[in-house]
Amino acid sequence: MPGLVGRSGQLGAWGATLRAFPSRSAFVEVVGEPGIGKTRLLTEFAAVATAEGRRVSWGGGSEFEQEVPFGAFLGIFDELLRDREAEADPLVTAVVSGQPVSSVAAERHRIYRAVRRLLSAAGARVLVLDDLHWADRASLELLSHLLRHPPAGPLLVVGAYRPRQCSPRLAAAIAETAPALDRVRLDVDPLSEDDVAELLGARAGGCAPRRLFLASGGNPFYLEVLRHLPDTAWTAGPAPALDGDLPAPVLAALRRELVDLPADALAVARAAAVIGDPFDPSLLPEVADLPEEAALTGLNTVTERDLVRQEEGRRSFRFRHPLVRSLVYRDSSGGWRIAAHDRARRALAARGGGPLALAPHVLRAATVGDLDAVALLRRAATDVLDTAPATAVEWLRGALSLLPPGRDPAARLEMLVMKTRALAMTGDLGRSRELLHDMLASAPRRPLGLRVALVAQCALVERVLGHYSAAAGMLTAELAEPDLAGTRAHATRPTAPPDAAVPTKAEVPSEAAVPSEAAVPSEAAVPSEAAVPSEAAVPSEAAVPSEAAVPTNAADATAPSDTAEAAEAADPTLSHPLRLELATVAALRGRFEQSRALVAALGDHANRVVVTAAHAVLAVGGAHTGAIHQARRSVERAAAGVDAMSDRELSGVLDAVGQLGWAETLLEQHAAATRHLERGLALSRRFGQNHVVTYFLLGRCFAANALGELATAVELAGDAAESAQLIASRPMTAMAHALRASAELWLSGPEGAAPWAERAVAATDRHTWWWDAAGGALSRVRLAQGRLAEARDLLADVLSRPAGCMRPTWLALRAEIALAAGDLPLARRSAAEAVDEATALELAGQRGGALVAAARVHLADGRLDLAEDAARRAEEDQHAVGQPLPRARALVTAAEIALAAGDAAAAAEHTRRAKAIARERGATGLRPPVLDLERRLGARLPRPSEPDPAGGAGVLGALTGRERQIAQLLAAGLSNKEIAERLVIAPRTVETHVTRVLRKLAVRSRAGVARLLPDSDPV
Ligand SMILES: Nc1ncnc2c1ncn2[C@@H]1O[C@H](COP(=O)(O)OP(=O)(O)OP(=O)(O)O)[C@@H](O)[C@H]1O
Ligand SMILES: [Mg+2]
Repeated sequence: MPGLVGRSGQLGAWGATLRAFPSRSAFVEVVGEPGIGKTRLLTEFAAVATAEGRRVSWGGGSEFEQEVPFGAFLGIFDELLRDREAEADPLVTAVVSGQPVSSVAAERHRIYRAVRRLLSAAGARVLVLDDLHWADRASLELLSHLLRHPPAGPLLVVGAYRPRQCSPRLAAAIAETAPALDRVRLDVDPLSEDDVAELLGARAGGCAPRRLFLASGGNPFYLEVLRHLPDTAWTAGPAPALDGDLPAPVLAALRRELVDLPADALAVARAAAVIGDPFDPSLLPEVADLPEEAALTGLNTVTERDLVRQEEGRRSFRFRHPLVRSLVYRDSSGGWRIAAHDRARRALAARGGGPLALAPHVLRAATVGDLDAVALLRRAATDVLDTAPATAVEWLRGALSLLPPGRDPAARLEMLVMKTRALAMTGDLGRSRELLHDMLASAPRRPLGLRVALVAQCALVERVLGHYSAAAGMLTAELAEPDLAGTRAHATRPTAPPDAAVPTKAEVPSEAAVPSEAAVPSEAAVPSEAAVPSEAAVPSEAAVPSEAAVPTNAADATAPSDTAEAAEAADPTLSHPLRLELATVAALRGRFEQSRALVAALGDHANRVVVTAAHAVLAVGGAHTGAIHQARRSVERAAAGVDAMSDRELSGVLDAVGQLGWAETLLEQHAAATRHLERGLALSRRFGQNHVVTYFLLGRCFAANALGELATAVELAGDAAESAQLIASRPMTAMAHALRASAELWLSGPEGAAPWAERAVAATDRHTWWWDAAGGALSRVRLAQGRLAEARDLLADVLSRPAGCMRPTWLALRAEIALAAGDLPLARRSAAEAVDEATALELAGQRGGALVAAARVHLADGRLDLAEDAARRAEEDQHAVGQPLPRARALVTAAEIALAAGDAAAAAEHTRRAKAIARERGATGLRPPVLDLERRLGARLPRPSEPDPAGGAGVLGALTGRERQIAQLLAAGLSNKEIAERLVIAPRTVETHVTRVLRKLAVRSRAGVARLLPDSDPV
């Protein structure tokens, strides 16, 4: 390679970045036009880094391989894994080894995390990513993840791309680089005339520098091509590049290189361009359709002519430049190319290549009617659906275009539905919706079950997009169609209330009695995500007709016999999916009664699975509209149904499990919620239904917050935010941030929580359920920050919406804000309302929160007896529902009240307990009030804050070293037996010591010791 000319500025910047590394992580962008010298610069960067002892790993995009999932990272993964075989993450290993990505059983963001962990473990390393403008979607998502969440350890990524081919996705990924990474942009400009002269001077002969400079415009690639032109071949004047195209003289010069090639060598070059970049030379004979000998000679020729080069230390070869490959590829005739791709597919298949390896060739080789190709692409799409849905969309598009019109409508429909799912998973709900409407417009009315599934799916997407009236409209219209209306007579006749149709725990039928999946077409179409947060519902398998439900014969599909039609129309369960979806939409629009009536109208013909799903809808809908008692009944029914179902059965209604879990956690049944959501999560992974994962993660995070599992909550909120972002769901992203804010408020206080709550509010629109969560979280943070006007305004917005089950919480918050602002009348009123409403809803946790507000109001009013009573009941409530942190808050309030009442001992005891909870849960956010209490208590109680190791004055002064140790363990709440174990002494000895300690400290009980030593940690 000739020496590098120019580029001193870029090299200087790189040197500075390397010197700052690894204490500073960075992302360096190398930006410039085709052929301008980006790759050359990257090579130089890598050499400098290697010389300085850094490990460098290479990856990058490739023009004709943009469907390969994680293509840009495969080389890097490979190296990382080679270095750290032992710690290899199964997720990454599966991706690298080309296993079908679906077998990884994880949603995309988990793979990204695994890579991040791998990078953390790999230490200071430089990642070079060339040609990012060609990177596949999965690679870009991974890059975006790494830039937004850099690994804990040092990271230096340098990426090159052509600015005019930079996709919006790449631009967004770069724009969102986290502040923790230094962002350095290096533009690669044309070489100066002097640089050109220098470059040419490096070689004897050639054309005049000036002419070449003008003709190449300072582009080194053009320069290299043009300099070899004989004088006679020069055309006049420079030709500027047109958006990505090569200038005419360069193109002409490149073509000359090819024209001169012997036929076999040209065939080899073209075959190489078909195989890939880099390419495996052993495939050349087959793909070039040449005897082995001839192919080898051809390879020698193209290598000698420097069209291709062998990769250092490898068997594989690369084109001299991607622009050369591009030209060689494009200059071959279309027909030859198709045949060559077909030969490549065969050759790879003969070597045991799987669908992922074959698909890119199949996509380019197959002709309409090639059913094997259709099957292969479909298979490949299935394999990457969850982890690289954008690739799945491409492959499905290919497969669909190969299916002759009218052939195998079942397969076509199935692939179309799969495509709608894949589109939704890429976050492109708009295109998913369009496709569904197109399908509906052309789909025959028969078979009805299929039509129903399509309509339900379409309505689901409308719902997820927030188009509630559109969803309701199309469902109502469909249900009024004569063939479905025929089922209505039955469905709407007076029936037992829905509860009666649901098995209770005791009467749940055994698995044997459950209709099989095949027999229950409607089960597949159970709506998802009901009333809550519908965004969850990326259209799912839910509404997707199962293979069994799809006609296998086109004639049957379009011309059913009269009897079949009659039988179909008479089946009352056919319309159930639509009714369920309508019930869901109604619940979402706050029309709970309508929702309830629709569920009731399902009647006693509804199968158990449908009924369970219906109750999950009612449960969460009830919770959200404040119809708590109905919600509670429905939760019980849905839980019984879900618990009785096998995993496989449940996989058809995973959305319902999500609704159940959410309803449970809203009803403060956090343990049950956790259990159901975890089962749902595990199943969604096992059955590859990643679309529901975000919803599960959010519900589980909500429960973790309530249970005081703060570390878990933070992790889940991070996971949820990632997966929400991948499906481009702003509302669910907002919810994830809001939950993170709640956890942070406990963990680190208002300053740590504020950024999350602010992001939550920014991510969603007002006047939605989602916004309530975000606005409420920010309001609480603002209160803690003392920014009362903002807190009040935010909360006013939340409270302006129809009442949901969270209302007592918001009213209590209003009381606290009013109290802080000195508006006692409003505080009194709000606290009382909060307590009343929580009591009416029988939600003990929320009542506990309301009682704390009430206790504070009473304290401000000087009504200490009432205050004390409220605080005590608050603590009991929180204890009863297992919410430790709100309980600690109740204890802090109780301590303040006790102090005001002059009962220092009780105050000390409450403080100690609050502190113990805070410590156990890592809730640093509780420190300020606890410390404040201790400070105030310190002024009242004769106690040394620290044991005096010198045995000096103070309460502990009278104790011996051993007694002091035992006193501290007593204060920390250890039993005699535990103390004996801890100190490895006999229990009897402990007893003796304890007696002495009590006597010397003049207290009667262990609690008395604890009051004297509230700071004690077990030693
Ligand atoms: N500063 C330089 N000094 C000497 N040679 C250079 C310089 N920059 C680039 N070259 C040579 O010019 C050719 C084109 O450069 P390079 O491949 O780096 O372009 P690129 O920007 O990566 O193009 P593309 O966008 O197509 O990938 C290469 O052969 C390279 O060695
Ligand atoms: Mg390049």
